[in-house]
Amino acid sequence: MKEYAALHPHFLHGADYNPDQWLAYPEVLEQDPEMMAQAHCNCMSVGIFSWAMLEPVEGEYHFEQLDRFIENLAKKGVKTILATPSAARPRWMAEKYEQVRRVNKSGIREQYNTRHNHCYTSPIYRQKTVAIDKALAERYGHNPNVILWHISNEFGGECHCELCQDAFRQFLKKKYNNDLDKLNHAWWSSFWSHTVTDWAQIHSPMEHGEPDIIMTGLYLDWRNFVTYQTTDFMRMEIDAVKSVNPHIPVTTNLMWIPQNVDYDALAKYVDVVSWDSYPSWHEQDQIRCAVETAFCHNYFRSLKHKPFLLMESTPSNTNWQAVSKLKRPGMHRLASLQAVAHGSDSVQYFQWRKGRGGSEKFHGAVIDHNGKAAGRVFEDVKQVGISLEKLDAICGTKTNARVAVIFDHKNCWALSNTSGFINADKKYMQTCLQHYKSFWKRGVDVDVISTGADLTGYDLVVMPMLYSMPLEQIDRIERYVAQGGTAVATYATGYVNDTDLCYLGGFPGNQLKDVFGLIADEIDSLYETDKNAVLWDNNTYDVVDYCELITPTTAEVLGAYKEDFYAGLPALLKNSYKKGTAYYIGCRDTGALSDKLYAQILEKLQIQTYDLPEGVTVTSRAPYLFVQNYNDYDITASVPGCYRNMETGEQYSGSISLNGLDIAVLYPND
Ligand code: GLA
Ligand code: ZN
Repeated sequence: MKEYAALHPHFLHGADYNPDQWLAYPEVLEQDPEMMAQAHCNCMSVGIFSWAMLEPVEGEYHFEQLDRFIENLAKKGVKTILATPSAARPRWMAEKYEQVRRVNKSGIREQYNTRHNHCYTSPIYRQKTVAIDKALAERYGHNPNVILWHISNEFGGECHCELCQDAFRQFLKKKYNNDLDKLNHAWWSSFWSHTVTDWAQIHSPMEHGEPDIIMTGLYLDWRNFVTYQTTDFMRMEIDAVKSVNPHIPVTTNLMWIPQNVDYDALAKYVDVVSWDSYPSWHEQDQIRCAVETAFCHNYFRSLKHKPFLLMESTPSNTNWQAVSKLKRPGMHRLASLQAVAHGSDSVQYFQWRKGRGGSEKFHGAVIDHNGKAAGRVFEDVKQVGISLEKLDAICGTKTNARVAVIFDHKNCWALSNTSGFINADKKYMQTCLQHYKSFWKRGVDVDVISTGADLTGYDLVVMPMLYSMPLEQIDRIERYVAQGGTAVATYATGYVNDTDLCYLGGFPGNQLKDVFGLIADEIDSLYETDKNAVLWDNNTYDVVDYCELITPTTAEVLGAYKEDFYAGLPALLKNSYKKGTAYYIGCRDTGALSDKLYAQILEKLQIQTYDLPEGVTVTSRAPYLFVQNYNDYDITASVPGCYRNMETGEQYSGSISLNGLDIAVLYPND
């Protein structure tokens, strides 16, 4: 498979470009490409929502305008990422063919509205999509200015129509080998007499039907089906465009995690992973925002273990967050290069020019309603373009992380919908971020991987709240530790299998008990006003939310609870298992305990760490280093070694000073 880099081996810098909204403004269309060149943009995503222009009447394709857009961009050295238009269908289609419109969770077929709401099963929608995709591929599949296919836009959502219900039943028949007994067992359906005696009795979880949280096996299989059907639809589109020229790579733009579709499945079939990143910068805790964004970037990079594309971001503000806050001076550069620091080979925006109307007219864009290639936002964008040109040597380089944190969509769905623990909020994502922050603040590169990922090559694997683990995953963890790996797990790990059936014989399930050398007998959930603590190495660490009551078998007890009827019982444990080591944190600490544990483990594993001020991190794409300051104030950070700043040429030896909200990209000096 070729990557876009084979066609255009440079950082991409550009935006979603929607010239079809400006057909009545020829002067605007004429100015755009020249302004793009001035903004140091080299690539635009075109045609994402252009179906109505491309096929105004059923079966009649009009590509003249699109020909012109691509050609005019090319004249200014701007490449095209060409989208398939399936994310928003034309009105005529929705009116003529009812089945292309989704049936929502209340069982109501939607009227024509918005976008991202087609039925993935509908044969008519599939047929119309393949037809236009093929027509696009035939017209542009050998155009040297088209470097990448952008398949649809932000796949997601679900449809509950009869076609989808039937497809769901077929999916289940295949999964359970046509055997209803197997399905009933997997769903534990004798609970409340819910036994299924005919496949036709199965319905998706709906508002007036089975709630998500009652028969969680059904709910999880529904999520698996939605993932399968969405992936299948995407693959159909990929096949359509590749049938003409398989050498143009494909991507689809994903969104902030977690989602209701498992991105692991989608990522398998694209050549390049891309995603749309819209952090709420300048909300109360900016550092937290930086950590969360870093975690997401790492997740998208780790989906294919190679550079990804930042497909959308805003050059100033969004129009849909609670508060449409502008990026403060410095933040645009910092956020854009943060993506690069974590493995992106692009900085793309939504969008090139603000529309005159529609709900996104006040969303930040490179060109504002004043129509000028000037001003604060334009200058910010231009400067990022100039930076990317100077940093071009980095494009394509990989990140070699020795540490992995497991974040898994299926686990997220299972945990969030299971009744028990603290129902108000299980805080799964928050917990993953808390553990990840210990590495972020020490400048340790981390892959964010899912349950199905290969663990070989990692020195440390962290699995926060990995409540749901299929048997294969348990085996994988066992092998990983047996062969010398170090694993860290927390409370609520390995409680259930992939259909939410509890493991019998004690938690964590199956041989994980041996790996961690313990049995977690009970878990206590705490009210917000409850307090406990762990005593470890003569220090006391606060504990909130969860305390497991643990019986060690072979594990060594490092720390014990201080309060309540389980005072003195183990809370933090370490076990030697075959050639490896497994740590177990039996309670939710407020950060300090796990942080100290990770500091010790990193030292033991001889993984390089940096001693950095709060709010500062270092990431690497060897041999390049990115030092990032998320504070509003200037800092000095110690960075051992001699480096040259790739943009300014400045030399550093041992330490580097950075302005507030700034990033420096360093190259080792011989
Ligand atoms: C998403 C979509 C874009 C646009 C932006 C606005 O990422 O893909 O079409 O709506 O959000 O932030
Ligand atoms: Zn449907």
